[in-house]
Amino acid sequence: MSAVEISNIRKSYGGVVALSDINISIPSGSFFTLLGPSGCGKTTLLRTIAGFHQQDNGSITVATQRIENIPAHKRDVGMVFQDYAVFPHISVSENIAFGLKQRKVPKNEIEKRVSAVLDMVQLKPYAARMPHELSGGQQQRVGLARALVINPKVLLMDEPLSNLDAKLRVDLRRELRGIQQSMNITTIYVTHDQEEALAMSDYVCVMYGGVIQQAAAPWEVYYSPANRFVASFVGANNFMKVVLTGEQASISATKVTLPQAAKNGSREGIVAAIRPERILVNPADDKSDTISLPVKIRQVSFTGREMAVAATLSSGEEIEAITQPTPDIIRLRPNDDAIFSFATQEVQLFEDGATGARLS
Ligand SMILES: Nc1ncnc2c1ncn2[C@@H]1O[C@H](COP(=O)(O)OP(=O)(O)OP(=O)(O)O)[C@@H](O)[C@H]1O
Ligand SMILES: [Mg+2]
Repeated sequence: MSAVEISNIRKSYGGVVALSDINISIPSGSFFTLLGPSGCGKTTLLRTIAGFHQQDNGSITVATQRIENIPAHKRDVGMVFQDYAVFPHISVSENIAFGLKQRKVPKNEIEKRVSAVLDMVQLKPYAARMPHELSGGQQQRVGLARALVINPKVLLMDEPLSNLDAKLRVDLRRELRGIQQSMNITTIYVTHDQEEALAMSDYVCVMYGGVIQQAAAPWEVYYSPANRFVASFVGANNFMKVVLTGEQASISATKVTLPQAAKNGSREGIVAAIRPERILVNPADDKSDTISLPVKIRQVSFTGREMAVAATLSSGEEIEAITQPTPDIIRLRPNDDAIFSFATQEVQLFEDGATGARLS
């Protein structure tokens, strides 16, 4: 039995369909991330689970209990907001105690639970401070502590790290995941940052236009994207037009063999995708089962750990490789001729369209 079961949830605002027929099963104790571009419906879905929005249709079950028609404050879910949402006029410990007072928890029990949660989010020394005396990261810890102190069955977080600077975001990412794992609390997390989603989650659910595109483990979403949208939104990718004649195909006017294309017959309107880190630049030897395409270099940039080599195919399409920085690659200049090579089996095929279906 899943901790959270969302069935056929639909929500529109006037004429705008924000969620169309959402079905999700979230295993108990897992970290489940809703990932997608601005406006795809992430916040709407989270707020519908929390009970701040009323769905038009569908059901939500948390630990076998149907909750979609019970009021937000009786749902046993904790929510952490992007803008911290701490009360400015009361101290850190009073902020954290607030939800327990509302629930009429006895005073000595409140003290015990606030103290335990202060330890967990490392705010013990700040218990008596006012929110304006805290940094953004510390205020967000208060937000997290307030959500956790009520012992919710599900923790919901809507872009909790997006107001923090890059370094702190990465530190807090680890800390959040650590707390979630130590408490084994089922968590639904919203972000539009694909790296954050991959790094933190047990499951990543990619949304676009109010529709779930794919929900799977991070590596599955990355290595086996369900469609072209997922392939382009999660991680970097290169897309090239393909003309197929059975297994024989042409990419950028180069004849290639794509065994994975055989079942698609002869047709156009297909794109091939290759991840930048799978491309070799000017490889020394010609291996079998590889595709080698002539390119003109546009720009080479050194990022410390790797080189990004941007180039143009003879078709005019742009393509980028990410490789180890070797002296030969560092010496490349704009307009140099080069060869980009990759294993045939690394190529994935999609219908050429916004969310084009996977064909291989
Ligand atoms: N109160 C509202 N009234 C009308 N339309 C709304 C309302 N709230 C959201 N929408 C619309 O519903 C769609 C989904 O919005 P939502 O806030 O869920 O997106 P999101 O994925 O959280 O985006 P972001 O990453 O920008 O936070 C958008 O098209 C948005 O304009
Ligand atoms: Mg949002």
